[in-house]
Amino acid sequence: MNMKEIKKIGRNWLRRDAAEKLRGNPVFCADLTLENPLTLKVLRSTHAHARIKRIDVDRASRTQGIARIFTAADIPGKNLAGIINKDHPLLVPDKVRHVGDAIALVAAETETAAERALQAIQVTYEDLPVIRDPEEALKEDAPRIHETGNLLFTRKIKRGEVERAFDDCAVVVEKTYRTSFLEHAYLEPDAGAGYVAADGTLVIYASTQNPHYDHGEVASLLGVAHEKVRIIQAATGGGFGSKLDLNTQGFIGLALYYLGRPVRYVYSREESFLATAKRHPLTITIKTGTDSQGRLMAMRARILCDTGAYGSYGIAVASRAAVHATGPYEVPNVDIEALCVYTNNPFAGAMRGFGAPQAAFAFESQMDLLAGELGISPLEMRRQNALREGSFTGTGQKLTASVGIRDCLNAVKPFYERVMEKWRHDPAPTFKKRGVGLGAMWYGIGNTGLQNPSTAQIEMDPEGSVTLYTGCADIGQGSTTVLSQIAGEMLGLSPGAIRAVVADTKYTTDAGATSASRQTYISGNAVKDAAGKLVEILLTEASNLLKRPKESLIVDSGLIRDKNDPEKTVPVTDIVRRAHEKGLSLKCQGSFDPVTEPLDPETGQGVPYATYAFACHLAQVTVDVLTGEVEVNRIVAAHDVGKAINPAGVIGQIYGGVAMGIGFGLMERYVPGRTVSLNDYDIPTCKDMPDIVPIVVESAEPTGPYGAKGVGEPALIPTAPAVLNAISDALGERIYTLPANLERVLEAAVAAGVFPGSHGVKQPA
Ligand code: MOS
Repeated sequence: MNMKEIKKIGRNWLRRDAAEKLRGNPVFCADLTLENPLTLKVLRSTHAHARIKRIDVDRASRTQGIARIFTAADIPGKNLAGIINKDHPLLVPDKVRHVGDAIALVAAETETAAERALQAIQVTYEDLPVIRDPEEALKEDAPRIHETGNLLFTRKIKRGEVERAFDDCAVVVEKTYRTSFLEHAYLEPDAGAGYVAADGTLVIYASTQNPHYDHGEVASLLGVAHEKVRIIQAATGGGFGSKLDLNTQGFIGLALYYLGRPVRYVYSREESFLATAKRHPLTITIKTGTDSQGRLMAMRARILCDTGAYGSYGIAVASRAAVHATGPYEVPNVDIEALCVYTNNPFAGAMRGFGAPQAAFAFESQMDLLAGELGISPLEMRRQNALREGSFTGTGQKLTASVGIRDCLNAVKPFYERVMEKWRHDPAPTFKKRGVGLGAMWYGIGNTGLQNPSTAQIEMDPEGSVTLYTGCADIGQGSTTVLSQIAGEMLGLSPGAIRAVVADTKYTTDAGATSASRQTYISGNAVKDAAGKLVEILLTEASNLLKRPKESLIVDSGLIRDKNDPEKTVPVTDIVRRAHEKGLSLKCQGSFDPVTEPLDPETGQGVPYATYAFACHLAQVTVDVLTGEVEVNRIVAAHDVGKAINPAGVIGQIYGGVAMGIGFGLMERYVPGRTVSLNDYDIPTCKDMPDIVPIVVESAEPTGPYGAKGVGEPALIPTAPAVLNAISDALGERIYTLPANLERVLEAAVAAGVFPGSHGVKQPA
């Protein structure tokens, strides 16, 4: 055997789901074939905060084509859902907390019949005072949105002597930064479908990021045993965090439970905008101080998170924003407090980055402000404060390996210098200003200071074919391909030759959420563990047969061979037969749970994450001072991902992250009550896309599968800070509220005196 070994890791294997999507196969919930399905629709609250005195469905029930109308009273189990805190009724029993709360569910023969019934349902509300502002919600005498009070959660991080350290600082900067509600705006609106199987199981297909969570939640809502419910993840056309919540799943379950007929529920764009999670708007007041050399000495921050009507992932967002508020830097003295507060706004939940993008906007703006005061370059400012191996974080965690932030900063350095050099000889056109900016970030992989295990199985059948079982939902990021690569590398098989059974609660075990950039690292390790156990069994048997030490044997392309003696080989199928004769199971279970330590509730000290990804983006922008338009010309994006298992996948994430980051930085803003659909919500199009230069930095993580960490959320986080710092560089005036839309950029241009009408600016001839 002198066949050259083909590596499965670090190569651009084709996406496993590419072909069926390209062919237009019915893989999405909206397209699944169902026999004579009912259509579902939900009546949603038009009041932001009100008691429900009466729901009258009599007339609506008698309209043509109605199978049934359900209210809270029909829910057989526990009418409260939520992945972290259970505060979200499927159908509200007594009061509504935001415009969009679900009041009644209609099951109808047609879309039109469902619409007609919705019109005919009569709800009598008794209005309660509405709270829109989280500061107001915190006041002693504020009306309570939930019985438990309006403050949902507090995360504190305290380390060192902050007051004393500020006294000794040479430069101190304190500012307040604000961000907006954002809509995920995935291409495929929330969707589900289902039927009742012959054995009575409720089978639910869902566009979801977490089928095993859905499973438990639907069983609990219906008060049935877990075996009575089966969740299958349908193809998912984007999630970005919002498909971690229960959207259609509970409604589908309820209708199946009572009606037994196939049902489908696809949100309209308007319903998706109205009724699903938003990104938390954060108000961050942050004070940062350095010594005379520019070394960070102290930081104090207060972070206010508006979680709207329900918690969803609010606790995780507040916790993550607090932990990440120091940025990828050594800050010896910190005092951070993040508050997560209920209001009557739309509920806010997970959205790519969980509070880290908002925090990065604040801490990266502070870095540039400090650099300006100190008269040192923004790049040097970051380089000299960057975390390194041996550094302690704000939570007192000692980083021991895979700290690639310096490598990322070094990777963008030549670009930074080149653009400065170029612009010296190349003045900007009239009424245009050019700027360059940096945005760095760190991102903890997985849940914050919590267990978040993944499990997986690998099975070899008598013919030697391999099946991977994973609960990990591939929502378009490519996890099934990456996990197949890992299994393929372990078993000496082409990733495409491995059958994959994915995200079906009947056949797969819990892999946790596709969230927190965790699946490559955590499920990747679980798959590697399972495959390793299978290899171990095969090699043990082969070792007995070939009379060679196990250590010198490898599995490759259907053969087990001796590395040192090419004569010594045995087909894997022979070994499989022997194993079967002996009654050995060739289905192996693997698992992985990153090693973390819970954060102390008073000081936030602990180990929130086992490993971190790092990145730095450089943005070049051109600002039109007449219109306020910002053109992002180029983003150089350096990412430490540990190891790129599939480099094309990593680069794809970077492209997508940059696009989303430009939306967050420049245009996206969801205004409760005003933003209805994509008509009034600007997202970037191809015309907004800059030239992107992705740079993959591989600072191997010793606990990662082949050194891998993650990139899903890190891809987005540095873009907005880099773009905002570039705008400040162009104008000489900073913007503290996102998005930096036309109005805000013009305001800054006026304040800077670079708007042509501004006092003291000469009109060009
Ligand atoms: Mo995400 S915010 O981890 O889906």
